Amino acid sequence: MKALNLYFSATGNTEKIAKQIEKTLREQGFEVDSFKVAKDGDTEPDILAYDLVFAGSGVYTWLPGKPMMELYAKLREKYAREGEMKPASPRRQGRKAVVYCSYGGGHTGGNEAVPAVKYMAQLFDHLGYEVMDEWYFVGEYHGKLQPMSVNGRLGNIEGRPNEADLREVSEKVVGILRV
Ligand SMILES: Cc1cc2nc3c(=O)[nH]c(=O)nc-3n(C[C@H](O)[C@H](O)[C@H](O)COP(=O)(O)O)c2cc1C
Repeated sequence: MKALNLYFSATGNTEKIAKQIEKTLREQGFEVDSFKVAKDGDTEPDILAYDLVFAGSGVYTWLPGKPMMELYAKLREKYAREGEMKPASPRRQGRKAVVYCSYGGGHTGGNEAVPAVKYMAQLFDHLGYEVMDEWYFVGEYHGKLQPMSVNGRLGNIEGRPNEADLREVSEKVVGILRV
């Protein structure tokens, strides 16, 4: 089983989670390729080369970050052109994905992270992967929006994702692998 660890992280929160996913997968004996989506990135991972894919991003205005959205657009076009996105999206035997975000929820809490995660899931569903789970991790605001880490709807989220969050990441990965 070969796993892809695909993520976008503008301020480092999702990267902490992605690194924990990678570490846990390796500990569990998986071969893992990590792919950090870059701004103006010109390379694309070949999703279909992987049995298991983890895909994650920070949430920006309710959606994945712009570079992740741009990568998604490229992959969608590529797989449509290659005939891999078939009508009715037939399942690909044994192919599975997990999508996740890190989010601050400063205005409407978990609700504003839902579109980002649902969006990321659709690429895999369209390609016939079973989306096994959708994970939501809290990530503090950096930069100008830092005050939202204390006065938003989730309360004080400074320092998140913290060690406990990263332990949760590992537990969830191990749980998924049991399936
Ligand atoms: C400019 C900006 C916009 C953001 N917009 C949202 C948002 O719409 N909803 C949300 O829940 N969190 C929002 N956040 C919080 C981030 O999603 C959160 O900090 C996340 O963990 C960042 O992940 P990253 O460091 O991997 O990019 C925003 C943060 C910044 C800096």
